[in-house]
This record gives sequence, C-alpha cells and structure tokens, in this order.
Amino acid sequence: MEKLYKEAGDFMPINGTDYVELYVGNAKQAAHFYKTAMGFQSLAKSGLETGNKEYESYVLAQNKIRLILTSPLKSGTEIGRHIDKHGDGVKVIALWVDDATYAYHEAVKRGAKSYFEPRTEKDGKGEVVRSGIHTYGETVHIFVERKNYHGLFLPGYEKWESDFNPDQIGLQFIDHMVGNVGDKRMDYWVNFYKDVMGFAQILSFDDKDISTEYTALMSKVMSNGNGRIKFPINEPAKGKKKSQVEEYLDFYEGEGVQHIALATNNIIETVTALRQRGVSFLEVPDSYYDVLKERVGEIDEEIEVLRKLRILVDRDDEGYLLQLFSKPVQARPTMFFEIIQRKGATSFGKGNFKALFEAIEREQELRGTL
Ligand code: FE2
Repeated sequence: MEKLYKEAGDFMPINGTDYVELYVGNAKQAAHFYKTAMGFQSLAKSGLETGNKEYESYVLAQNKIRLILTSPLKSGTEIGRHIDKHGDGVKVIALWVDDATYAYHEAVKRGAKSYFEPRTEKDGKGEVVRSGIHTYGETVHIFVERKNYHGLFLPGYEKWESDFNPDQIGLQFIDHMVGNVGDKRMDYWVNFYKDVMGFAQILSFDDKDISTEYTALMSKVMSNGNGRIKFPINEPAKGKKKSQVEEYLDFYEGEGVQHIALATNNIIETVTALRQRGVSFLEVPDSYYDVLKERVGEIDEEIEVLRKLRILVDRDDEGYLLQLFSKPVQARPTMFFEIIQRKGATSFGKGNFKALFEAIEREQELRGTL
C-alpha cells in the first residue's frame, strides 16, 4: 500500500479532513442526535446569537472528527433548496491544507470547477483562508488553511456552551468517505481525483467481487499521497434487483456521499455504546458467525462478542479489520455511517459483501425459501 500511495502526484499536500458539513432540515435537533447517540461534543456555533441571520450552524467534535450541521433561518436560500432536493446530506468535505490559495489555483488549472475563490476570514484569533471547488453531484471540497489561526474553529463561530454533554464513545477520525456516482461515471470521477487533486487509485472492485442477488456495485478507491484522505467511488452495477447505489441515487436525486467511515480503537466498546444509545445497524444473519473463524482465521476478539454486537470482520494480505454499517440516519434511505477498526488491513471489507450474502442464503435454505 505504501508503494501505491507514492504513485499519487502529491502536488497538493493535504494534512487531513478539516470538517464535514451537512445541510439538514433541523440542525438543532440533528445536533442532539450526534451528541446523545454518537458521542459528539459541543464545540462552536453560528446563528442569530452571533449575528448570522441567514442560517444556523452547530459544530460538533469527537477527537479528530468535526461535523457542521447547518439549517437555513428563512425560505428561498441555497441551503434550503439543497435540502428540498436531496434531503439531509453532506454538502462539504473540507480538506486541511497549508496553502488554500495554491490548492485552489492548482485544482482549477487542472480542470476543477470553482465553488468560490480564496477568501480570508479574520477575527481576534487570527485568520483563515478558504477556497472551494465542486466535486460529484452538488458536493464540494473546501480547502482550509488555518496556520495563522488560533481560535476554536473558524472566524464567525463562537464557543458553544452546553449543560448537556454525554460522553464520547471512542470515535477517532474519518477513515474514508464514499461517493455514489451515476451509471458509468466512476471512471470520470476517478480521473478527476487523479488529474485535479493528484490522488492515486489504490484498489478496485468490480461486480464480480461485490455482487449479490439483491445488489451489485463497482468501486474504485482514490487516495492522496499520505493516505489520510481516502475516497472510494461507487457506481451501480447490474443486479437482479435494484442496486443499493441506484436506490441512493434515486432518493438523493443525484450523486452524493453514501457513507462516512469513522475509525475507533475499540470497536466492541464503541458499538456497545452506540447500540445502548439507540443507533441501529444493518442486520447480519446469525449464520455469518458460524463460518467466521474459517473465513478470517485467528483474531484477537471473541466470536461470541462479535456475534452479539453483529460486528463484521474481513481480512486482506496485511491484516484484518472489523466494521459495521448503520442504517440510514435521515428520512431518505441515503447516507449512513460505518464504524471501523483496522488491525493491519488497509482494504475496505469487500469480503463481507459475499459473506453476508452467503449467510442470508444459508438462512433462506434453513427456512426452505431459497
Ligand atoms: Fe466503507
């Protein structure tokens, strides 16, 4: 994998994900969910109390993860139009760079469509330079340069003091973020990340790898040079029934972020907490666990504990990983979260697609409905 990362052009060094902004119908209530159910902490806010009459934004943090939840404060706004079309979803994947002016000009020179030109925002704590480009669907990347800033988050935001502060649950950083794009559009966006951002392709799956009776998809994974930013890009593939990517595209009414994978150092503790706090996950047939050991070999965790929590395991040449997918977290069956713990593995769990399908088949067989 190291070798592959070096193929990345790296003309645009990225230090990591700066923040992810979601446009949502009711930011105040969504913030409560992210705190109560997912262990995010109140960090900062912008809205009427800070002199912002257009929209209200809540910033939540957990270790290196920062989310912004934004709702408009009146009708007829661009944010409101976005929510009307797509439902709640990710608008911005912000990338932390050393030079947001350089990143912008370099990206635009290489073919990116401008979202906004570099602008400097200041307050008593210094200045931040931000610029933006479009990516798939109506999703955008914002480059954030914060080396001359010592404030809490960004100029325009003030500290969000809250009396209600549920504990964190061990989520550490964003492992990867997956985009669903239209039919035959995967290679277009793969080339976009290659040409415009200098990313390299580190993996690909085709419909033979990820194909079940119910769903099929094709996926290629793009990474920046240091591996801190990983964007798998999915396109639908022909299955016997409507593919999950197709369903997403129908309900989101376009291309967009399918899931955000959050890394933990202890998936058993994290998933136990998430389940206690009412987060629901994809159902996994019991029979998945009957053949788990045979499929992945020796692992540190007890199979019975994984079975109880319905945590999935996959292995690659470098190690194994544990993962679990939430159900969609808004009304439309669109975005969801993945919880992931890597124990050496650098892949994304493709073995689980097949294993899950086979487990479903075994159960069907037992019921005599296959
Ligand atoms: Fe994933």
